[in-house]
Amino acid sequence: MMNVRQEKQYEYHIPVFCKEVKELFRMVANGVIVDATFGGGGHSRELLDSYPQMRIIGIDRDPDAISNFRKNFSDKERIELYNVRFSELCNIIKTPVDGILADLGVSSHQLKSMRGFSYNEDAYLDLRMDKEGETAVSLIARLNTGQLANILKEYGDLSHGFYIANIIKKYKPRYASELRSLLEKYVRGRRIFARVFQALRIAVNREFTELSSLLECLDNDKTVKKSGVAVFITYHSKEDKIVKEFFKKSSWQEIYKKGIKPEREEVLNNRAARSARLRAAQKI
Ligand SMILES: C[S@@+](CC[C@H](N)C(=O)[O-])C[C@H]1O[C@@H](n2cnc3c(N)ncnc32)[C@H](O)[C@@H]1O
Repeated sequence: MMNVRQEKQYEYHIPVFCKEVKELFRMVANGVIVDATFGGGGHSRELLDSYPQMRIIGIDRDPDAISNFRKNFSDKERIELYNVRFSELCNIIKTPVDGILADLGVSSHQLKSMRGFSYNEDAYLDLRMDKEGETAVSLIARLNTGQLANILKEYGDLSHGFYIANIIKKYKPRYASELRSLLEKYVRGRRIFARVFQALRIAVNREFTELSSLLECLDNDKTVKKSGVAVFITYHSKEDKIVKEFFKKSSWQEIYKKGIKPEREEVLNNRAARSARLRAAQKI
C-alpha cells in the first residue's frame, strides 16, 4: 500500500528496481550518491528514507524535475539538485562520491507533458527533455531521407527505416497525432509507433552521446571513490550494450554477470518496467 507522500511522488514517475537499488547502495549507506536522473526523485526518496546518513547530489536536464522537487519534495536538507545534463556532471563533482545511479530513458511525467513524447497525445512534435536546442520537427526538416532512415534503424531497431523515413519526409508531420495517423495508414502496429517515437526522442536528445559522456566522467578516480557503486537502469538494448562495454574495459567490476531484469510482479504492477535492465558495478 502506498502512503499519501508516495502517491504524490509517484504521480511524476514510478521508479523501477526500487528494492534492488536500495540493496545495492546499502554498502555506501553513509556516503554521498549522485542521482544522475532525478526525475520525480522516487529513487532518491527511497534511498534517503532507508539510509539516514546518506546525502544526494541530483541532476536532471528537464527543468520540470527541478520545479517538481521544489514544490513536492519534503525534507530537502540532504539533497543538492542541479538542472544540468550528464555531459556537465564532471564540473559539479568537486570531491569523489560513493556511488552513482542513472535510470535512463523518459519519465512518466515527460510522456504526459504534451511535448510529443507519446503517440497518444495531440501535441507538437517537440520531444526535447530540456526544452533547448532542436525540436523533432526541425530535426525532420534538416535531415535527408537517408539520415532519418539511419536514426529509425539504429535507435528504433526498424528494419524498414527507409520506407518510414520516406513517408515522414513526404508528409512532414508537426504533431504527434499527425505522425501517428501516418503510421496507422502506412505501417500499422503499436510496437512500431512506439519505436518511431523512441528513435526520434533519442536523436533529438542525443541520448547515446550523453550516456557516453556520463561514462567518460566515471572513467577516472576523481568522480567515484574506490569501492564505490554504480547502478545503471537501461530501456534500450544499445544503451545496455554501451554500459556493458564500458564496465568491461574500465576500472569497474560488474556485480551481476549479465545484468538483471525486473521480477514478474514488478512488471505486472508497472508496465514501464517491462523493458528495463539493471547493471551494477563496483569501482576497483
Ligand atoms: C526514467 S526518468 C528517472 C526517474 C527517476 N529515477 C524517478 O525515480 O523519478 C529519467 C530522467 O532522466 C533525465 N535525463 C535523461 N537524460 C539525461 C541527461 N543526459 N542528463 C540529465 N538528465 C537526463 C530525464 O529528464 C528524466 O527526468
